[in-house]
Amino acid sequence: MGTRDLLLIVLICRLAWAGSMESCAHRCEEKFNKAADCQCNHQCEQHKDCCEDYEQLCASQEESKKMEAEWEEKETAPASNVYLAPNSCHGRCQEAYDQHHPCHCNSKCQKFGNCCEDYDSLCANGEPLDGFSHSSDAITKEELLTISEKIYKADTNKAQKEDIVLNSQNHISSSETNDQVDRSPEPLYSYVNEELFSKPTYAAFINLLNNYHAATGQGEHFNSQQLAEQDTFLQEIMKTAVMKELYSFLHQKNRYSSKQEFVSDLKNMWFGLYTRGDDEGDSSGFEHVFSGEVKKRKEVSGFHNWIRFYLQEKEGLVNYYSHNYNGPWDSYPDVLGMQFNWNGSYKEVGTAFIGSSPEFEFALYSLCFISRPGKVCHLSLGGYPLAIQTYTWDKITYGNGKKYVATAYVVSPKE
Ligand SMILES: *[C@@H]1O[C@H](CO)[C@@H](O)[C@H](O)[C@H]1NC(C)=O
Repeated sequence: MGTRDLLLIVLICRLAWAGSMESCAHRCEEKFNKAADCQCNHQCEQHKDCCEDYEQLCASQEESKKMEAEWEEKETAPASNVYLAPNSCHGRCQEAYDQHHPCHCNSKCQKFGNCCEDYDSLCANGEPLDGFSHSSDAITKEELLTISEKIYKADTNKAQKEDIVLNSQNHISSSETNDQVDRSPEPLYSYVNEELFSKPTYAAFINLLNNYHAATGQGEHFNSQQLAEQDTFLQEIMKTAVMKELYSFLHQKNRYSSKQEFVSDLKNMWFGLYTRGDDEGDSSGFEHVFSGEVKKRKEVSGFHNWIRFYLQEKEGLVNYYSHNYNGPWDSYPDVLGMQFNWNGSYKEVGTAFIGSSPEFEFALYSLCFISRPGKVCHLSLGGYPLAIQTYTWDKITYGNGKKYVATAYVVSPKE
């Protein structure tokens, strides 16, 4: 082989090498690589040295993973010490591994030697997920998919396409959600057909929204009119096909023996007051999820409802910044993960259904809270997967040890 051949080979090798170092193919999340022309881990966005195909090959993967982790953290940072009993398997049997917990409750924990002390007594006999002893009463994964599709189809009160004009503007990556930068000069809602709000369940829902002090640490005191509004809301939603589907499913699963029992339990779990801040009875599941709260650190907590968002935006109290998730649905309800400012407090990632009826959200969150309390609950809407995370409030109970809703919100479905 002559010198020229050798040079040629070196040249070809260099070209091939350079080629592979200009692409993120097989390099997503690789550590900083000095030899490469461009980088493929999420820091590259900050350092502005990402390969051209980074966004396409790595960012979306990275984003969905990170978004999930962030939602866990944001909404549930107190999870391990407030919402759950972290040292016990109570209500956690067969739960997926969660690094935040000091001990674990699924069958692998025996192998790894990190089971909670009560794992054997509570879970080892193959106790069903939600603790129901008759296997016919346990709610399976498949049943959740079926009932959520039924509820989806039954939601005739939802917004039609022409009822809402959304202006979602800037889409950001999950690494930017903490920037607190207003990247969207226009409001999120360009138009909403407010005739929707005269439907009985919408009207009853909207009446409830101003019954709360947003600040945690400020006690709620309901007058008789406000208490009556809670009953009206429950009565109105119980007339809808959505709630009838849910009740008949839960009745069949032996969770409730009568409608009366069901409604009274819903009223307790959603409207019963507990203390999130310093003041006696400053919070409830309904207030947190639908009306929204503000923590002392000027952070928005909860606030997962599109009607509330629209009305507050119209009043000039909500400033929409951007979104980092847009669901796959091309009709309503859809799902957005949003960044916004609410009267001076920031929400880093707030998910909400868009264009759903109040009874639809109430039904799905209740379904998940009742069948998978404190866990991720996998549903199906129009053929697309959707996951809802709920948490129980564990400091006080009602009835015979029943839990209040601490929170419920949509998480990004696993892809
Ligand atoms: C906005 O926040 C301020 C405190 O920063 C509070 O005094 C005021 O009542 C809030 N306004 C509304 C309409 O919630």
